[in-house]
Parts: sequence; structure tokens; C-alpha cells
Amino acid sequence: MTEPTLILAFESSCDETSVAVIKDGVEVLSNIVATQIASHQRFGGVVPEVASRHHIEQITKCTDEALAEAGVSYDQLSAVAVTYGPGLVGSLLVGVTAAKTVAWAHHLPLVPVNHMTGHLYAARFVGEFKYPQLALLVSGGHTELVYMVEEHQYQIIGETRDDAAGEAYDKIGRVMGVNYPAGKTVDEWAAKGNDTFHFPRAMEKEANFDFSFSGLKSAFINTVHNAHQRGETLNKYDLAASFQQSVVDVLAEKTVKALHRYPAEQFILAGGVAANHGLRQRLQHDLSKEFPDMTILQAPLKYCGDNAAMIGAAGTVNYLYGDRAGWDLNAVPGLSFPRMNPVTE
Ligand code: KG4
Ligand code: ZN
Repeated sequence: MTEPTLILAFESSCDETSVAVIKDGVEVLSNIVATQIASHQRFGGVVPEVASRHHIEQITKCTDEALAEAGVSYDQLSAVAVTYGPGLVGSLLVGVTAAKTVAWAHHLPLVPVNHMTGHLYAARFVGEFKYPQLALLVSGGHTELVYMVEEHQYQIIGETRDDAAGEAYDKIGRVMGVNYPAGKTVDEWAAKGNDTFHFPRAMEKEANFDFSFSGLKSAFINTVHNAHQRGETLNKYDLAASFQQSVVDVLAEKTVKALHRYPAEQFILAGGVAANHGLRQRLQHDLSKEFPDMTILQAPLKYCGDNAAMIGAAGTVNYLYGDRAGWDLNAVPGLSFPRMNPVTE
């Protein structure tokens, strides 16, 4: 019998400290997540210096817990995987340093993982991957369409030119008095309202696969402020539903357009905003109708937000492809997949 591949994975790119043990790329033996949300809420967003300090306090505890819950000891591990970008530099450095320390002390290979690859591999927990594949990765920091001709090869074919979708949710949520991160609550409110405001759909008709959410965000904020000045109160459920409809329309229409230009065997939806019920339903509906032979995998709700299990799943693939980092591995805050030439026709 061959030995299982056991990966100890670290994730600390933003405001969650997470350590997981993954067996053979798909079995989550443990996934410890220490969230810092409560510490950042009073500032309305993540404060980088506060985040780094929390990571330092949590990472050793999370590592011990992850190994204990998995029932795995250091000498059974195949490798250590870690997110080295993109993200906040101070936060990333804590995970990178912890991973290097464990790998060095226990003579284990160190496997670098791009955080966005991690988000993508959250969908691996619900099914096998097929290629060519198109992924819509939507999070608090990123909104991108990634095309993979084959495994372990990633190319961006479209991305946001300004705010990420999650960032827009958080900013408009703040205007409505919703605590950071606002996405989940705005999503819940949206289900109770209707699109009565008809906010703009940016770049919807343009011949590329890029997105823009800052115009929508400004239109939303202006609408709320103008009403406030007139002493009017707008229906928060309709506001949320109108905002969400605009985001979902643009994401779904650009995805359909991209799939016509870049045919795929499989479509993946992942990232923090992939937890959005409106987006999940709409993509499932539109894509299964338009591309009946394509399989659709949506990251499970519990692995949409940042976690180390997804880093372990992606890390296993990187490990098997021979990706290795040296002891000089550094955090790369602006790490990105290569961009395919924009389509202009
Ligand atoms: O991927 P993630 O955990 O962190 C980053 O890598 O950025 O994504 C967090 C983002 C936040 O902006 C949060 O508001 C958003 O995901 N989010 C949602 C929902 N749940 C979380 N946005 C829309 N609808 C949701 N249900
Ligand atoms: Zn993330």
C-alpha cells in the first residue's frame, strides 16, 4: 500500500489564521480557523498591523490543534504548504515564517501556494476537476476569470479594474450600517427585496471580460446620501436587492460571454463572494441552460471564505508537480496569475 500524501497547510493572507491537515488532496482531516473579525469590526475593515499581531498570537495554537484533531504527527507529514501571496504583507509573513520553521525543523519540503489557487481548489472538495476549465474567483480582494487549459496552468482572461466584488459589498454595507464583512447580511437582505433602484451595470456590453464595481458603489452611496439629505429612509431590502442584482447580472453575463470565447469542460465558482446565494443560483441556472454539457462546481459554503483546507488541496497539487520553495521564500503581496492578452474584437 502506498503512503498517503499528508499536507500541513498554512493560510494567513488577511484576517483569518488557519492551519489544516489534508490527506491525498481531498480529505480534510482538520481545518482550524481563528477569525479576527471582531477585532476589525470597529474600524469597518481589516487593519493590517492588528491582523499581523493576531496571526502571531494564533498560529502556534492553530498548528497544534490542527495536528491533534487530525491525529497526525510531524513525522507522518509529506510536506508543508503555505500561502505566500497575494495578501497583506505582514499577515502573509507570519504564515510563511511558521511554515518555514516547521518544514526546516522536521526536514519537510516547503510548497508555495498562491491564495487564489487555494480558493479555486475549495471546489475540489465537491468533485474532480476537468479541463479546459474556467473559474470565476470572487473575493474581498479579487474578482477574476481564470482559464486553465490543463491542470496547474492558470491565466487571467478578465478581472476587476477597480474594486473587488466583496469589497463593494463591504463598502455599501457600511453605508447601510452593516458590520464588516457585510456580504452575508446584504445577501440575506437582498432575498427579501426587489430591484427597484436599477443601479448601473458597468462594462456589461464591452468586448472584454473585465469588471468594474466602483461606479455601482458610488451610485449606491449617492442614492442613500441624497435620500438621507431629503430626510427619506429607503427600503434596505430593496437597496440590497438592487445592488446584488447589478453585481450578479454583470458577473453572470461576463461569464457566459467568456465561456463562448474560451470553451470549457467545467466551470468553477469560488472565493468569499461565491457564498452569495443570488450568484450561485443565477450561475447554476444560466450556465446549465447555455452550456448543458459543461459540469459546474461551486465551492462548498464552508470553504468559500479564507481557510487552510483549500490551501492544502491546492498545495497537494503543487507538491505533486514538484513546486518547492527555499528557505528564502518571501511574502509576495501582489502575486497574480499571468494575464492573457485582452480580447478586443
Ligand atoms: O475570500 P474571502 O474570505 O477573503 C478574501 O480573500 O478577500 O472573501 C471575503 C469577502 C468579504 O468581502 C465578504 O463580504 C464577502 O467575501 N462575502 C460575501 C458573502 N459572504 C462573504 N459577499 C456576498 N455575499 C455573501 N453571501
Ligand atoms: Zn481569500
